[in-house]
Amino acid sequence: MSKSQEHVIQKEVDKRRTFAIISHPDAGKTTLTEKLLLFGGAIRLAGTVKARKASKHATSDWMEIEKQRGISVTSSVMQFDYNGHRINILDTPGHQDFSEDTYRTLTAADSAVMLIDVAKGVEAQTIKLFQVCAKRGIPIFTFINKLDREGQSPFDLMEELENVLGIRSVPMNWPIGMGRELCGVYDRMKNQVELFQGDDHSNIQVQKVDSYEDPVIREMAGEFLHEQLKQDLELLDVAGDPFDYEKVLKGELTPVFFGSAVNNFGVQTFLENFLELAPKPEPRRSTEGMVEPTNEKFSGYVFKIQANMNPAHRDRVAFLRIVSGKFERGMSVRHVRAGKEIKLSQPQQFLAQDRDIVQEAYPGDIIGLFDPGIFRIGDSLSQGGNIVFDELPTFSPEIFSKVTVKNALKHKQYQKGLDQLTEEGTIQVFRTASFDETILGVVGQLQFEVFEHRMKAEYGVDVQLQRMPYQFARWIIDEKIDPSKFRINSVLVKDKKDNYVVLFENEYAMRTAIDKNPTAQFLEMAP
Ligand code: G4P
Repeated sequence: MSKSQEHVIQKEVDKRRTFAIISHPDAGKTTLTEKLLLFGGAIRLAGTVKARKASKHATSDWMEIEKQRGISVTSSVMQFDYNGHRINILDTPGHQDFSEDTYRTLTAADSAVMLIDVAKGVEAQTIKLFQVCAKRGIPIFTFINKLDREGQSPFDLMEELENVLGIRSVPMNWPIGMGRELCGVYDRMKNQVELFQGDDHSNIQVQKVDSYEDPVIREMAGEFLHEQLKQDLELLDVAGDPFDYEKVLKGELTPVFFGSAVNNFGVQTFLENFLELAPKPEPRRSTEGMVEPTNEKFSGYVFKIQANMNPAHRDRVAFLRIVSGKFERGMSVRHVRAGKEIKLSQPQQFLAQDRDIVQEAYPGDIIGLFDPGIFRIGDSLSQGGNIVFDELPTFSPEIFSKVTVKNALKHKQYQKGLDQLTEEGTIQVFRTASFDETILGVVGQLQFEVFEHRMKAEYGVDVQLQRMPYQFARWIIDEKIDPSKFRINSVLVKDKKDNYVVLFENEYAMRTAIDKNPTAQFLEMAP
């Protein structure tokens, strides 16, 4: 590759930021995403992100769900430009859409924005998503939302981040008042105040000050709020963590921003600070060592496969995260697992419901590849080589059902469907030691609906799912496994790779098993 080509790739890598927003439903992810897109001038999208809100479905007709949720699915990745940056936001579906895909998507992000409702603090789904990010050690930026409402004190929230998630935090700005009293935020890094103007908080004024002692703040916010701000910030200066960029990059310290997404308050400052601090596309581990984004050869891996994205296009789309080099439409690449060259001729990028054809793309970008059934989760594609990226983790399922086929004559198709959908990562399959029961494990209920629907639509098989009482799965590593030990409130099964897994009905059963088997390791993810 010529020097100038290398320079182009470097420049494209430098300007990219690829991240996911992690939160519990209702914290304001849709609202925040929409505001960010608006800043990027992607105005045609405004309102469309919101539209998926209306799609809280109760039906189990998956095609219908898909149709209604068209937006959420096709907006799996949103790309926009802002201030010379190219930003890719990876959607992590909440509500009933939560699935193993949600976790896998996080593996394609270089950083995460953790959105927290000021009144509710750290909630269940945030904890799960956070843990996946923390395992990878990616930087996490926190946005505390809904400051226009009464909520917990910022100090309590910081303590909660530490106690519940185990992450230290450094407030980048600090609220001046809260709820009806909220009049603005103080930017600790830039020494400026951002103030709301007018009753509806529609106008935002930014004023540079010398420090938080500056009497200008008193004039603007009144004596009471200024005193409170001074006390809070003095305490933070003395007792809080200093900003340490190295720790931020390692995911040990989270920069915290306060704001109100619906009022567009603090969103722009957040975005600008985030773009400055968030990492550009990172290298990825592979069989050939670390693959740098600026590596001249194109490479990437599939992290998600989506079937029937749109009833009008009854195809599958494989989502590929580009790791290195330059992608050009029509290029030939090696599909390493299949050992074949393939031509990437119909790549798509995901913006609302349009399926834009991508002409070129760079590391950090996500492209959708037309998939006639050749891809699996974790597949590596590369130009001129056999790079294989590290396998994607298998996440611990939490909902289990026994599966049987209604018509025994369809057993062959059933087996084929089961194998293929497991390969695709739609569900995880476990078998009891005596092989008489097949148990499916998922992270979210929707995965069962998708499985049932696809077995019928693609393999012509009616399956019956019977919910089982298990809630936890742990892979066990032990020299000598004694199945008799896993009978009470648990069952010993094998995964598709013949690893031993124990499914537990409750935490007590799991704790007891761990205590009683000190030589065994119980892993949350497949070894
Ligand atoms: P989600 O995607 O995380 O599930 O949340 P979403 O953005 O849909 O927001 C959930 C609710 O919280 C919405 O209200 C939204 O308007 C509101 N919200 C978001 N940001 C803020 C904020 O900064 N302050 C306040 N007070 N509310 C906020 P809703 O009543 O469920 O929907 P809508 O009728 O307002 O659309």
